[in-house]
Amino acid sequence: MEPNALTVIHKLVRHEIHAVSDRLAAAGDSDDRAVLEAIRRAAEMLRGHAEQEDAHLLPVLQAVAPELARRLDEQHHSLDRDMEAICASAEALQRLPMSRRVRARRQLHDAWNRFVADCLLHMDEEERAMQPLLGEGIVLSKVAESTLAMEQANADEFLANLWRAITPQERIAIERARLRLQLERAARRAEDCYEADAA
Ligand SMILES: [Fe+2]
Ligand SMILES: [Fe+2]
Repeated sequence: MEPNALTVIHKLVRHEIHAVSDRLAAAGDSDDRAVLEAIRRAAEMLRGHAEQEDAHLLPVLQAVAPELARRLDEQHHSLDRDMEAICASAEALQRLPMSRRVRARRQLHDAWNRFVADCLLHMDEEERAMQPLLGEGIVLSKVAESTLAMEQANADEFLANLWRAITPQERIAIERARLRLQLERAARRAEDCYEADAA
C-alpha cells in the first residue's frame, strides 16, 4: 500500500494510543492526573480524526460501498461511546481514596487496551477495505494542506508529533507538498497584487 493521508494519520493515531497504554501500564500513585490529561488529549485527537472521516471520506464511500460506510460509521459511534466511558473512569479515579486506586487503575488499563484493540481493528478495516475505494481523496498532500490551514503553533505541534510516527520518506513527501503549496499560494498572491496594481 502506497503511503497516503489515511495511512500516515493512522500511524500517528496508533503511536498516540500505544503511548497512553504504556503510561497506564507504568502508572503509580502520583501519575493519575497526567494519565487523565493523556487520555483527554488522545480522545480529542481520535474525535477530530473520526469527524474528518465522517465529513470527507464516508460520504464518498457511501456512494460506492454503502454497507461498508454504514459499518464504519457505526464503529465511530461505538468507539466514541467507549472513549466517553474511559474518560469518565479516568476522572472518577481522581476522586477515589488512594487505597482503592490500584484496582481502579488496573481496570482503566484493561479498558483502555480493549479500546485500543477495537481502534486497531477499525483502522485496519479502513485501510484494507475503504482506502482502495477513495483514490485521489486521500493523497499525501492532503496532510500538507490541512497543516497549512492550522494556526502556526498547532501545525508545529502536530507535525512534531507526526514526524515521530512516520518514515523519513513520508516526512520528506509531506514537507515537499507543504513547500509546493506555499510557493503556489505566494505566486497567486503576487499575481493578485500585480493585477491590482495594473488596474
Ligand atoms: Fe475511522
Ligand atoms: Fe481512521
